[in-house]
Amino acid sequence: MSAPVLLGSRMRPVLLWFLLSVPVLLTAGSPVNRSANGTVPLVLWHGMGDNCCNPFSMGAIKKMIEEEVPGIKVTSLMIGKNVIQDTGNGFFMDVNEQVSMVCSQLAQDPELSGGYNAMGFSQGAQFLRAVAQRCPSPPMKTLISVGGQHQGVYGLPKCPGESSYICDMIRRALNNGAYNDLVQNNLVQAQYWHDPLKDDLYRKYSLFLADINQERGVNETYRKNLQLLDKFVMVKFLEDTVVDPVDTEWFGFLKTGQAKETETLQESVLYQEDRLGLAAMDKAGKLVFLASEGDHLQFTREWFNANLLPYLH
Ligand SMILES: *[C@@H]1O[C@H](CO)[C@@H](O)[C@H](O)[C@H]1NC(C)=O
Ligand SMILES: *[C@@H]1O[C@H](CO)[C@@H](O)[C@H](O)[C@H]1NC(C)=O
Repeated sequence: MSAPVLLGSRMRPVLLWFLLSVPVLLTAGSPVNRSANGTVPLVLWHGMGDNCCNPFSMGAIKKMIEEEVPGIKVTSLMIGKNVIQDTGNGFFMDVNEQVSMVCSQLAQDPELSGGYNAMGFSQGAQFLRAVAQRCPSPPMKTLISVGGQHQGVYGLPKCPGESSYICDMIRRALNNGAYNDLVQNNLVQAQYWHDPLKDDLYRKYSLFLADINQERGVNETYRKNLQLLDKFVMVKFLEDTVVDPVDTEWFGFLKTGQAKETETLQESVLYQEDRLGLAAMDKAGKLVFLASEGDHLQFTREWFNANLLPYLH
């Protein structure tokens, strides 16, 4: 029997779905009441394998925030017409298109015209950063990235062991084909696949990540817009088994040309040349690096309240 061809077949996405489906898990806790409607609207963008309204994930987060901040308007983004499309689009819809859809949705909401905060989960975090960089109106105030992959990923998330046959197949497929037109155009995760051994291909062909990270030149608009944020908060999960390398959650990554040693954001060329304005933001105290114990997107209500809630006011 021959091995299944994963790339370009219908099988690969299903396998990815199965392996990577990681909704946010919330542990129950006690609500704290606040008063008054001097609230800033909040926009949520869910992660891969999830959707706007899953009652155990984004739905629960939305409800929790509404309890904690009475009167707040929380918009959990749905990409598509229903939750099925929304979940599927997290795998197959061109990210740049998703971002422009969201930009026009936000611009059309009169309740957001005074500004809003944004909270992205996993891949939703880098997508919301693209919204901040490309669409300054309405203004995003604070961007909270919860386990986001700002330098992309290189490795198969949630792969149960390096020796696993399926994992190896998928990894090889992404390794070999991530920068092919066909794959770039049709697989969301390929659009933030960052191969440090194929840096030239990444810079040239990555349709999404290399663009928003200024790898093909400096777009001054991106630099300017990102710096309009009051704060850019990045949460890293200390026992993350889903995101590889986990440094990407704080905007670090593998050093170019090898796949072992990592570097922090501050050590990167992106920062040192300040191609995106991140060094300036750091200096201005706008970058916040938070850590949470636990695996990808796993946090308690107490942790959320103590660490993220202060940024929602
Ligand atoms: C509070 O203000 C927001 C934004 O203007 C609005 O959407 C929401 O309905 C208000 N909440 C209450 C309870 O009045
Ligand atoms: C820079 O970004 C803006 C906002 O997305 C876009 O309109 C413009 O075309 C970009 N410029 C270049 C040179 O890519």
